[in-house]
Amino acid sequence: MTYPYQIKTLEDYNRQYKESIENPEKFWANVADNFTWQKKWDKVLDWNFKEPNVKWFSGGKLNITENCLDRHLAKNGDTPAILWESNNPKEQSRKITYKELHFKVVQFANVLKNNGIKKGDRVCIYMGMIPELAIATLSCARIGAVHSVIFGGFSAQAIADRLLDAKSEFIITCDGAFRGAKDIPLKSVIDDALVGNKTIKSVIVYERTQTPVSMIKGRDVWWEDEIKKVEASGNPDCPAEIMDAEDVLFILYTSGSTGKPKGVVHTIAGYMVWTNYTFVNVFQYQPGQIHFCTADVGWITGHSYIIYGPLSAGATSLMFEGVPTYPDAGRLWDIVDKFKVDILYTAPTAIRSLMGCGEEFHKNKNLSSLKVLGSVGEPINEEAWHWFDKNIGKEKCPIVDTWWQTENGGIMISNIAGVTPGIPSYATLPLPGVQPCLVDEMGKEIKGNNVNGNLCIKAPWPGIIRTTYGDHERCRQTYFSAYPDKYFTGDGCLRDEKGNYRITGRVDDVLNVSGHRIGTAEVENAINMHTGVIESAVVGYPHDVKGQGIYAYVIFDENHPNANLSKQDILQTVTRVIGAIAKPDKIQFVPGLPKTRSGKIMRRILRKIAEGETSNLGDTSTLLDPSIVTLIIEGKV
Ligand code: PRX
Repeated sequence: MTYPYQIKTLEDYNRQYKESIENPEKFWANVADNFTWQKKWDKVLDWNFKEPNVKWFSGGKLNITENCLDRHLAKNGDTPAILWESNNPKEQSRKITYKELHFKVVQFANVLKNNGIKKGDRVCIYMGMIPELAIATLSCARIGAVHSVIFGGFSAQAIADRLLDAKSEFIITCDGAFRGAKDIPLKSVIDDALVGNKTIKSVIVYERTQTPVSMIKGRDVWWEDEIKKVEASGNPDCPAEIMDAEDVLFILYTSGSTGKPKGVVHTIAGYMVWTNYTFVNVFQYQPGQIHFCTADVGWITGHSYIIYGPLSAGATSLMFEGVPTYPDAGRLWDIVDKFKVDILYTAPTAIRSLMGCGEEFHKNKNLSSLKVLGSVGEPINEEAWHWFDKNIGKEKCPIVDTWWQTENGGIMISNIAGVTPGIPSYATLPLPGVQPCLVDEMGKEIKGNNVNGNLCIKAPWPGIIRTTYGDHERCRQTYFSAYPDKYFTGDGCLRDEKGNYRITGRVDDVLNVSGHRIGTAEVENAINMHTGVIESAVVGYPHDVKGQGIYAYVIFDENHPNANLSKQDILQTVTRVIGAIAKPDKIQFVPGLPKTRSGKIMRRILRKIAEGETSNLGDTSTLLDPSIVTLIIEGKV
């Protein structure tokens, strides 16, 4: 496979960037020409950010799986598409070639059809990191069904909310998942989510852990049994459903500043072009290389850089079931050596946790196959950047610091490996097609360099969010209303004297815990469900490994017995309502919260106290009861 649009030099970057801004339609038509279309588009781009309404390649007909699978078969059918490493280092790894993956996707697509799933239906996928997860997503795409993957760490309640919001009638899951030393009983969580549910028509269960599960008659079926039925039917084919460029490919839920997660919607053609283009360029992928992205497919990074980006490029994508610290903190380096990984794409939180484990875990590992390192999910601090560079990249591998969001589909601001320079803790320059700008609180654009502001994007790129599922107005309000005619990212940002971008973190009430987005309002809602809680306020504070930790101030009902037990109960409540990922790291019981006369909680003060600041708390004169601040400082945990 060749990539005529691959940027090779700094001049290429400058030229492509200029072209993409001056004539986006021509630029993206040239890139899109390299894909398989059943019918070419009528119009490359139609847009306004008012509604918003963005359409890429409208009139075009295609199926993304023909681009991720069929088109590679003739020349690269025997190339591994997915390599898989088990959680258990002693279990045999797996290699699935493009031919085999195509076969399995087609076969499972027939299973979906036999179970009544049709084009446009929403299918919830709740699985561990096994190749069948990729097969399930691609099989949905094959028949035009919309997948909604839910991360294995979310609770039954969180799943139930998402099923309802997406009006899903079908679920694909596993009996359980292996993750580090833990077995996660996925099917049992699904069963809890489905108590009282009358809309789910079928649950397809893949057997991974041999955990006992309850299979409900008329609803639950085993993956393997269904495959046998397809084999017995003697019809192995499943032609790709012909889809419109702007048909929905998937929904992925993400947290915002309100209590309810949003279903971010991505559509087929734009997302495909964007993930492919960014994959091939940022990582400088060369055919034959092994790309290892350590993210979970339950998050956007896994969607874009384990499945769609690499597979649309005919690349070999390595998928890992476990965690970097199991059975010990050398696991990633063992995997790099075992598979001779060329590109390693991971998260600052993983780097920081491994950094703290000592050098014996990487010192004697053979990491010489590595050519490019990548970071995503949160700002990477300089110490972690240098550790990664020195100990893992041996000061020979460019590190790409890739800034982007679930809503963006793919990488937006990043250096290009070996082509544009990397700077520790800077995402650096926008990719072609991306027009960042900084605005002040009033929405006025801040021009020039050496400035700080809120990061917005001025014009659409192919992977932009199209809507929030079932509620377009919410999409408009969240992303397109704060600053007219701009997409607002929710991030603060600095532009240095040379025009390089450095993301400084969220400016809204969204936390970034271990690279996962969690809304403070969501956590507060969960805490407030506990009987002993009167009110709560949640803020982030700097955490050495997680980037941000969750600090909860809770007004506890004094008449409730046993305060110690109740802290545990609160943690249990959050785990039930959202999942263990949202558990507060610290809980402080407080007699009251700092509120303005109009009843608004002054989070700025709570954030400062959580950060350890006790004197410079800013203006507290507008508080209804300033003495509450002293009491909170005295009781800090
Ligand atoms: O604050 C930014 C941070 O993660 C947020 C997006 O989170 P999510 O949608 O979960 O997607 C994460 C993976 C793409 C952003 O608003 N973020 C992501 N990457 C970086 C980053 N902050 C700084 N530097 C990055 N490279």
